[in-house]
Amino acid sequence: MDGPSMKKHCTDEATMKNSNIHDTKPKLMEGGQYIMEGEQAAESTTLIFSMKEEVGALANALKIFQSHNVNLMHIESRPSRRDAKYEFMVECDTSMGDLGAAMEEVRAKCSYFQVISRNHLDNKNTVPWFPRKIAELDRFANQILSYGDKLDADHPGFKDDVYRARRSYFADIAFNYKHYEKIPRVQYTEEETKTWGVVFRNLTKLYKTHACKEHNTVFPLLIENCGYREDNIPQLQDVSDFLKDCTGFTLRPVAGLLSSRDFLAGLAFRVFHSTQYIRHPSMPLYTPEPDICHELLGHVPLFADPAFAQFSQEIGLASLGAPDEYIEKLATCYWFTVEYGMCRQDGELKAYGAGLLSSFGELEYCLTDKPDLRPFDPAKTCMQKYPITQYQPVYFVSESFEDAKQKMIQFAATIPRPFAVRYNPYTQSVEILNSKPQIQMLVREINCDVQILTDALLKFH
Ligand SMILES: [Fe+2]
Repeated sequence: MDGPSMKKHCTDEATMKNSNIHDTKPKLMEGGQYIMEGEQAAESTTLIFSMKEEVGALANALKIFQSHNVNLMHIESRPSRRDAKYEFMVECDTSMGDLGAAMEEVRAKCSYFQVISRNHLDNKNTVPWFPRKIAELDRFANQILSYGDKLDADHPGFKDDVYRARRSYFADIAFNYKHYEKIPRVQYTEEETKTWGVVFRNLTKLYKTHACKEHNTVFPLLIENCGYREDNIPQLQDVSDFLKDCTGFTLRPVAGLLSSRDFLAGLAFRVFHSTQYIRHPSMPLYTPEPDICHELLGHVPLFADPAFAQFSQEIGLASLGAPDEYIEKLATCYWFTVEYGMCRQDGELKAYGAGLLSSFGELEYCLTDKPDLRPFDPAKTCMQKYPITQYQPVYFVSESFEDAKQKMIQFAATIPRPFAVRYNPYTQSVEILNSKPQIQMLVREINCDVQILTDALLKFH
């Protein structure tokens, strides 16, 4: 399930509590995001395909690539959920050989064929494809680089067939999900609910003192409206409905690892890709990847806050059509804010990042004097390297979400794009502003809004 530079992180409460990050013990922490860095994306194109005939299918396909001098950087076969028994994913080096001809030849022998890396076979003048309407998120929902039911050998559930079957069940739900549908409700098992209970009980003890005020404001509403309880795992659809009422954010289930570009594009539409499965019961305070505890306890409360929701959307909007190096920079900003952000409130440091708010160990650690704290500044933050399997040595502190949002907007303006984008909430679509008439129309709309504000202000006098 690992991509070449997949980010993943986890928690291990027992090993990390009160420990120094330079300990020799295993360093694990919680959090997570289903995104993959795209450093190599510009030089590679990834394909998924199923062959019409199955015996020797992969070998035959590989011969075609070879005959066109196309180097393959990654090859994977996996059970198909489409019309064939197996499908193949190959990452092709686009720097040499005739990939176009190879693709055409392979395509002719396929029952299914899809190019999943839309990142340019050509060059600088191309703007990478991005969704313009919210329903277009369906287009990459299944263009995942690994299915969520594939577990690494060191995953706590690797040898547990029951757990693996369960992960497969959740991956299927997400794989078949389409925009406009309700997220299927899940009957969580007693064991799963028990695992949730342990995480819930431990984390809620810390929120009052360690979490930002927005998290603490929203949390009781989640208890009241979405069934947040120690003995109940809330349903994604209920939580999504709640978020929609608060800020217009919605959740959609994700079957596996999305590229950074696709994951961030979801945020542009106020859509958060969420896992639905839970971590393995043998280690309730550890998970090597995001799970429903991380999403519901870490991410969801903040997405109900208007300023934070807007901040998150700004990162997403900035990513649309951005060059690959900027996608990586935005993903790093995302990491240090939405996942590991800290803020100062009434002179006190508080956590707002989901990786912190869903990790008992790191939530305690981040408020000690061990980590290095720096002011959030996207131009600098985006260059910061970070570890993915231990507590963060550096955190970036925002003065407010409003302040962080303004800084993100300024940073987004430095991204080389031949257009500006604006989200239209009425149509749930992204408008491309690259012509004078469009901009004039927008000015007229804004004038109307200013008129409403002026009238409202006059009523106060
Ligand atoms: Fe996350």
